[in-house]
Amino acid sequence: MAKRLHCKFDIGHTAHLLFSFASRIVLSNARVAAKPCPMKVLVLGSGGREHAIVWKLRQSPRVTKLYCAPGNGGIAADAECVAVDLKSLDSLVQLANRLSPDVTVVGPELPLTLGVVDEFQRRGWPVFGPTRAAAQLESSKSFAKEFMQRHRIPTAKYSVCVNQEEVLEALKLFHTPVVVKADGLAAGKGVVIAQTKDDVQRAAEDMLSGKMLGEAGLRVVLEECLEGEELSFLVMSDGERVVPLVAAQDHKRVFDNDQGPNTGGMGAYSTDQMVDAQMRDWLVTHIARPVVAGMRAEGAEYKGILYCGIMMTARGPMVLEFNCRFGDPETQPIIMRMESDLLEGIEASIEGRVSEGDFRWTHDPAVCVVMASGGYPGGFEAGKLISGIDEAERIYGVKVFHAGTNRRDGAYYTSGGRVLGVTARGKDLPDAVERAYDAVMKIRFDGMHYRKDIAARGLKHLRAG
Ligand code: AMP
Ligand code: GLY
Repeated sequence: MAKRLHCKFDIGHTAHLLFSFASRIVLSNARVAAKPCPMKVLVLGSGGREHAIVWKLRQSPRVTKLYCAPGNGGIAADAECVAVDLKSLDSLVQLANRLSPDVTVVGPELPLTLGVVDEFQRRGWPVFGPTRAAAQLESSKSFAKEFMQRHRIPTAKYSVCVNQEEVLEALKLFHTPVVVKADGLAAGKGVVIAQTKDDVQRAAEDMLSGKMLGEAGLRVVLEECLEGEELSFLVMSDGERVVPLVAAQDHKRVFDNDQGPNTGGMGAYSTDQMVDAQMRDWLVTHIARPVVAGMRAEGAEYKGILYCGIMMTARGPMVLEFNCRFGDPETQPIIMRMESDLLEGIEASIEGRVSEGDFRWTHDPAVCVVMASGGYPGGFEAGKLISGIDEAERIYGVKVFHAGTNRRDGAYYTSGGRVLGVTARGKDLPDAVERAYDAVMKIRFDGMHYRKDIAARGLKHLRAG
């Protein structure tokens, strides 16, 4: 039997009848405060994105118990962290069976692409995210490209290849530079922008041989290289309707001025100016809604967050990629701007009534600066003592989200490549940037590095009027 997810009034049947009767006579126009139904929530994941989700859920008056699996040292301050193997469906099912959450929120793509939502749904357990079939929009770039072609969703010209002969043949149709993408999940390492046709062949060979990315690279997508500014446009879907979240921009390269190799994301920011109402409607009408309608028509209903990675080109917005979950680090500034209850939005998505959900945002911008371990995105050492987090959080409007930390004897230590997402809200973008960097300056750990130009593009647009 499926659990009932939403209960508006926690009162018995008789009391309910009396209440409706009395309310009709006496309180016809008055608002009666309902006693919130207590909710036990489980969040899956262990990064900065999950910390932001947990931090926001913690603020919901309805959340009475919050678990995060596996979580991290910083998340442990906001939720009870429990061990789990995110790569194992058995482990996830056993955990949920033991904790019996009223709802499970899936953070990262891996459990989604393995089918955690399908497994939970089969058991009648409320869970937030797309099924395995729907998550193919992220887990297979060739699926996503062919889907976009079928549904006329604007995207770069492409060709799917499984061997070098096909690459050579396809290359006749492309001008350099050409983008070479591994078909499967590659944790941000599956995209090469090749400047010459020789580079394309080399990159494709590295992927197709399976040496570089294993199975994820056994099929590659060659893509026309697009120019413009990138935008992360996320919507919440209930399978039929979508509600846009505020837009954000990621900073994928490791060094300032977009230099150096790609990372999981070195920072992000979100402002109202990124997309005006007209552009937001355009993105919903021409991208988000057709994707959700197309998936539904193809029998793979898409529920949860649909992350559209967009390039704003001179020819108009074009889709670079889809992700089937919240972005990391975009979620940190997006969540900082959310004024409504995240749990309500999540429930509305699960229950198929997302357009009735309460989604409210502050106009204040938010900025997240990622502090990373020395060497990241290459090899790095973990176990470095971190100081200054409390001082950083004393700055008004600042929250430090933990991405890769653990806690021992009352102190935090680094445990991952991306360590902290120092996030600040401000009255305007310069204010948010200043607060974020003031907070960063309070924090220290051996080898730490971070970009000094997060949101610089937004500041430039502001100066240009
Ligand atoms: P993806 O995983 O497909 O989003 O690619 C990662 C990053 O590679 C994107 O955020 C872009 O910066 C870049 N990229 C991907 N596809 C293209 C493209 N067709 N043209 C230019 N840059 C691209
Ligand atoms: N920030 C990009 C991603 O979440 O995939």
